Amino acid sequence: MKVKGQPTRTIWVEAEPAEGRPGSIGIIDQTRLPHRFETTSLRSLDDAVRAIRDMLVRGAPLIGATAAYGVALGLHGDASDARLKTVYDALFATRPTAVNLRWALDEMMRTLQPLPEADREHAAWARAAEIVEEDVAINRRIGENGLALIREIAAKKGDGEPINILTHCNAGWLATVDWGTATAPIYLAHEAGIPVHVWVDETRPRNQGAALTAWELNNHGVPHHVVADNTGGHLMQHGLVDMVIVGTDRTTANGDVCNKIGTYLKALAAHDNGVPFFVALPSPTIDFSLKSGRDIPIEERGAEEMTHVHGKTESGEIGTLQVTPDGSPVVNYGFDVTPARLVTGLITERGVVAAEEEAIAGLFSERRQD
Ligand code: MRU
Repeated sequence: MKVKGQPTRTIWVEAEPAEGRPGSIGIIDQTRLPHRFETTSLRSLDDAVRAIRDMLVRGAPLIGATAAYGVALGLHGDASDARLKTVYDALFATRPTAVNLRWALDEMMRTLQPLPEADREHAAWARAAEIVEEDVAINRRIGENGLALIREIAAKKGDGEPINILTHCNAGWLATVDWGTATAPIYLAHEAGIPVHVWVDETRPRNQGAALTAWELNNHGVPHHVVADNTGGHLMQHGLVDMVIVGTDRTTANGDVCNKIGTYLKALAAHDNGVPFFVALPSPTIDFSLKSGRDIPIEERGAEEMTHVHGKTESGEIGTLQVTPDGSPVVNYGFDVTPARLVTGLITERGVVAAEEEAIAGLFSERRQD
């Protein structure tokens, strides 16, 4: 997508490694958005670990892409089997829920393990670059498949009526390498001249909707309103939502969808009000090793995300403000699971499919694990 008119991705190669010097990867520091657009460089395994753990990069596909380059950075000067394991373990421990992390690390291992040590670093940079390109292509296809759904709704609604789409968290281009998953159909519809309007859930506690999705849509001129997290049900009761499109961090073999905390409540409200609830997902987000969403590890994050809000002060400084009383304990679950029965369809790179075990396995038969 474009930032200040310039084509921009969320991750890019600044320099490949050369004799005696490690390579360098560029990322957008998403902890500074929407108030500052700042980029930073990753030059080591530790940098990549910190970027994922501290959420400078976030969103399942981008976590995977960053981990792939983290492996490449981590092999500089030592590409032994022991080092490969250290690198894998360090990156794997950064965040527990998005399965794209494990998928990308396993892809890297599959490529690198059979190779002689001397060839591994170069091969790691090459495979990481492929993973990044694959992500862009996959998301573009998700966009085209989702666009067909938006067109169907537009045809039913009649000329000029905006299609109201509710989304939760940020499954936008910032969460991927480019395009986003949930936002890809929205961007393509907007480009095609179909009037779309997006309800952006603020997504407490980290406000990925209010800070990141709103920033993206604003930047690209897509009409939208940010709403408090609990507004979706009211909007749906009043016919103000034509469809919901969300992303996912891990979808299990039976079609259960794990996504940012609060997604389940949107799915319940959509079900109650007959609003189609779609999940946009690239195939690396499908975990065929898990039969049901109950087995997904749910990230519990630090209390400070609940006790404090992060934002820009009136004087333009970026800072935090405490919102809870001193001493009140909090819990902070990062994700929840929406049962497959509440999902109207999964928008994948190979088409829109029912959230059902046989249908998913049929579409991605090469990954099936029986
Ligand atoms: O905690 P985050 O910001 O990494 O959570 C991101 C989400 O929940 C996204 O919806 C999900 O990763 C899909 S991104 C295409």
